Amino acid sequence: MISHRLEHFTESVIRDMSQLAVIHHAVNLAQGFPDFPAPDEIKRAAVAAIMEDYNQYSITWGGKELRNAISQKAHKYNHIEADPETDITVTCGVTEALMASMLALINEGDEVIIFEPFYESYGPDSAVSGAIPQFVPLNHDFSINEEALVSAFNKKTRALIINTPSNPCGKVFTKDELKLIADLCVEHDVIAVSDEIYEYIIFDGRKHISIGSFDEMRDKTITLSGFSKTYSVTGWRIGYAIAEKTLSSAVRKVHDFLTVGAPTPLQCACLTGLNFPDSYYKGHAAMYQRKRDYLHDTLTKAGFRCHLPEGAYYILADMPEGTEMDSLAYARYLTNEIGVAAVPGTSFYHSELGKHKLRFTFSKKDETLQEAARRLEKLNK
Ligand SMILES: Cc1ncc(COP(=O)(O)O)c(C=O)c1O
Repeated sequence: MISHRLEHFTESVIRDMSQLAVIHHAVNLAQGFPDFPAPDEIKRAAVAAIMEDYNQYSITWGGKELRNAISQKAHKYNHIEADPETDITVTCGVTEALMASMLALINEGDEVIIFEPFYESYGPDSAVSGAIPQFVPLNHDFSINEEALVSAFNKKTRALIINTPSNPCGKVFTKDELKLIADLCVEHDVIAVSDEIYEYIIFDGRKHISIGSFDEMRDKTITLSGFSKTYSVTGWRIGYAIAEKTLSSAVRKVHDFLTVGAPTPLQCACLTGLNFPDSYYKGHAAMYQRKRDYLHDTLTKAGFRCHLPEGAYYILADMPEGTEMDSLAYARYLTNEIGVAAVPGTSFYHSELGKHKLRFTFSKKDETLQEAARRLEKLNK
């Protein structure tokens, strides 16, 4: 017998679309992973760590040096003070950090607030942990609808998930918006789970703000980030959770029995990444801003209507006017007939809105984006 908790979610449509892309030799703008190499220095550090025999279980919460470096990075970049001994847990990606946080926080029937559009793991994370998701739609321009947010809070609300910069819509939460969320979390004694995996991919001079840096949120936030997107190593599966020690100790209990620990040699390699100079991070954001502009232009010319993302590496586009198919059928048509794979908007919306949108990633080589542009020209013929 299968658990009732799994009844309401299906397998990842994003991975389905990636498989369809392989079958049809389509350019894969569906799944958010780079098709270009990771920096040589961290690849060399991973090889060296294996050859130096860093091959056994590490400390369950993560290697000491890595936690020390994460603590320094959190101080400098996120303005969060985290004791590496008690407040940091290295996990198998943000994916595990999210699930461990939810399992640590939620009692069956608790409610969790999720902004819509959302990253597709948040629904299943809620279902597995026994939480009831309360979806709060963002406005058309992806700003917060204050009235909707206020009315989502009630006695049963235990947690709220923030994702800034956001997948799929590229929203970067402003200080005022985070302040509004913080005030509500304090008033209702709610924990913010803040997924900041795209914290370094931020455009047009914007600044990344962590809600966990607000004084009043110090004990009420679990800040999640990782190395997948910052160092282009989505297959390494290293992330982390930062929270004050009571919350961290709950996350650590779950993490211990879910995974024992994150891969040891790859933790060593991520430590090398954390020592990269500021110019690496500036260059990383500038590269993605250029790719964003190119894909935005391509999609606009092909008839899509799209908001310019403020961060992360996706564009959530409205399907061309007059398209009668829903987004799943249209995503299949684009993959099979036009040769470009994207993700149907239904993966990111609980409401009907997702039926009219597709998500494209620009985490690809320039040649890949140029080939996608060439193929999408067929839509205008
Ligand atoms: C918003 C968001 N959170 C978490 C993840 C998963 O991160 P990780 O590779 O660290 O598990 C992704 C991956 O696409 C993401 O977009």
